[in-house]
Order: sequence, then C-alpha cells, then structure tokens
Amino acid sequence: MAEFSDNTNRPSKTPADSRVQTRFLLMPNQANPFGTAFGGAVAAEIDMAASMAAQRHAGGPVVTAAMDTIQFERPIQIGDQVMLDAVVSYAGRTSMEVAVEVYCENPQQGRRALATTAYLTFVAVDPQTGKPRPVPALVPQTPEERKRYDEAFVRVQARQHLRRSQGESRPADERSAGAEVEVLRPLLWRQDVVFRGEQLSPEGRKKIARALRTLHSLELMATTIYRLQIGSEPTELNRELIAAMCNELTHLQDFQTQLYEYGFRPSPLRLFWQGVGVVFGLGSRWAGARWILKTGIWVESKAVEHYSRLLEAAPWEEASRRMLRKNQEDEQGHIRTWQRLLKEMETQKKSRRKDDSDGS
Ligand SMILES: [Fe+2]
Ligand SMILES: [Fe+2]
Repeated sequence: MAEFSDNTNRPSKTPADSRVQTRFLLMPNQANPFGTAFGGAVAAEIDMAASMAAQRHAGGPVVTAAMDTIQFERPIQIGDQVMLDAVVSYAGRTSMEVAVEVYCENPQQGRRALATTAYLTFVAVDPQTGKPRPVPALVPQTPEERKRYDEAFVRVQARQHLRRSQGESRPADERSAGAEVEVLRPLLWRQDVVFRGEQLSPEGRKKIARALRTLHSLELMATTIYRLQIGSEPTELNRELIAAMCNELTHLQDFQTQLYEYGFRPSPLRLFWQGVGVVFGLGSRWAGARWILKTGIWVESKAVEHYSRLLEAAPWEEASRRMLRKNQEDEQGHIRTWQRLLKEMETQKKSRRKDDSDGS
C-alpha cells in the first residue's frame, strides 16, 4: 500500500511491499548437455521475477533497462527446485534497481544453496505515452534493507558515472549525481570505518598527518569560498556554485573521516584558511560573476597542484590514494566548468558590443 513520506509529497513503499518470492522445477529443456541449468534459462526467470517486483513497486508497467550484473555462484541440477527472491533495492525518480537471489534446493536432501545473484534496472513507463513515469520512493525499514539500499545507491552512481564517461548523457565535468539519483548520501556504516596506518613508521605517520591536515584545511577553504559566492537568483552560475560547494563538502568529509581513522586531529590552522575563504568568497562575489569564475579557476588550479605534490609526499594506502586521485579529478572538473562559463560570458559580451556598434 503506497503511503506518503513525511518530507515530500511523493508516495513511498517499503521493499517488503513489492517483494516477489517464487519457485520452479528445473526441467531438462532448461539444462545444458551436462545436466545443469542453462544460464540463459535462469536469466529469463530472473528477469521475470525482478520485473514483477518492479511492477508491484511502480504500480504499473515497466521495461528492463539493464541486467548488468549476474553472478553464477554454483550450478543448478535438473530436478532441483529453484527459488527466486526479488527485492526492489533502490528507487530513483523513474527507475528502480531490483536485487535477485536464486537458491537451488535438492528435494531429496532438502539442502538449499545460493546459486545466482543478479541486479537489474527497470524503468516505469506510462502505458498511454510509453514515456518514463515517476515511481514511489523506496523506504527501507530493516537494517538489512537499509544496507541493501546503500549498496544499490553506490552501484547506481557507478553506472551513471560509467555512462557519462562513455559520453552517453551529460558532460564529464558535471559532477552532480544525476537526475535518477535522489540527493541522499549513503551513510558511513560502522563497519566501513577503517583504522589506518598501523604498519606505518613514525616518519610515515607524520607525513600522512601533514598531508591530510593540509588537504582538510584547503577543502574547508574551498567550501567556504563557494558557500559565500552563491547568490539568491536562479542562474546557471548559482546552480554550478551549489553543485561545486556540495562536491567540496564531500572532499571535506573524505579528509575529515581519514584524519580520525588515522588517529589524527584537524589542524588548528584550518580556521585561518577558513578566514582566507571568507575573504576570497565575499571579495569575489562583491566584484561580480567574472571574478567569481577567475577566483574559482585560480584556487582550483592551486588545489590540483597541491594534490599532485601531496600524492607523492606521503606513503598513502591504496584506498587513500584512489580517493585523492578522484578528488583531484573533481577539481579539474571544476576548472573546466569555470573556464566554460567564463568563455560563454566573454562571447555574450562580445556579441552585445557588436549589437551596440551595429545599432549606433
Ligand atoms: Fe575539493
Ligand atoms: Fe574544487
């Protein structure tokens, strides 16, 4: 039964509302010459169960958009009972991810084992127009459902990132999560917290501490600059500034988390850098859009240099190194955005000047 969630007018459903559990008997016509299930036959059953769960969540017809992960864990024998458990794991605006677990059960021995897992994406469609239509929000209830939702959110983002990098939708320098992802961040679970740096020498720890404190302070400055540059008008510049601020907040979160995971504290000097951010942010906003963009390009270029230097300056663990590279890539994306807007602004200015001189 669809209910209304408390903070929006969008109807919501729980994963249990649409869960589909079904079973069938593996017959010889669904098997390969070795007497075990033919992958294509299992995939068809998975698609069927998953699409029924998606239909129940959407309350109408759906189409399969992707079946991008299907993992065959163990073979299913002819005569086994095959159980499928399909649960909506994530719902975007018009699309849903469904997680399917397939178990096989030998009816003589009564043994049950996980045979296959799969993740499928469906889009709800309007039966009249055939166009995508909104689906209810998904509200996980149990710790297991919440964990599944967070894991699905990461997969949804990864798929969108992949599509963008293949040039399918929006330019690569647009770093917002995309229309299909709700503005929610996955929670950091207690089991995701990793105590780091045990194997480091005292000298190595010092280097990591210095680098993390610098990056944390600089990200605090960047967040402050963008926060103060955002105006109240619904312009393209303000849209980009809000997205950049949000992206810088994720960088700040990354470094703050790692500082504590290594057992360090943020630098007291960060307050000085926050002050510098206030001066840059308010100063450039007062000076106008051109100076906002120029400040952005200059500060972000410095950030890219810092990242390159600090990547070399400390004995990072692989996970930290990947995070630094990803954040550095984000800063390069910001530079491209500000350069694009500056170029557009200059082109508009030139054409205005031309119009004025033509008119006079
Ligand atoms: Fe940043
Ligand atoms: Fe940045």
